[in-house]
Amino acid sequence: MLDIGAGDGRLLQLLLLKCPNADGIALDFSPIMFGKLRERYSNNNRVEIIEHNLNNPLPSVLGEFDVIVSSFAIPLP
Ligand SMILES: C[S@@+](CC[C@H](N)C(=O)[O-])C[C@H]1O[C@@H](n2cnc3c(N)ncnc32)[C@H](O)[C@@H]1O
Repeated sequence: MLDIGAGDGRLLQLLLLKCPNADGIALDFSPIMFGKLRERYSNNNRVEIIEHNLNNPLPSVLGEFDVIVSSFAIPLP
């Protein structure tokens, strides 16, 4: 699962609770949120934290996802 604009990572954590066999990537560009993501996931090997600005295309090394979620991170036009 990929969480775009993951913030503090709570949404991804709830989804991973529901899907115990899934892994996740938490993507955000904010240094503050990056700190919160590290706090939440530093001991969780199911989650990778990626620093990336969504104004740029996703790096192809991220591969493909079964689920992509985003909550309050994509501005409406
Ligand atoms: C309102 S918060 C929502 C956080 C989380 N998804 C939630 O629902 O609690 C929006 C998040 O999107 C991130 N964000 C906004 N624009 C972004 C961009 N261009 N690239 C990466 N992250 C971005 C912010 O850093 C912030 O963590």
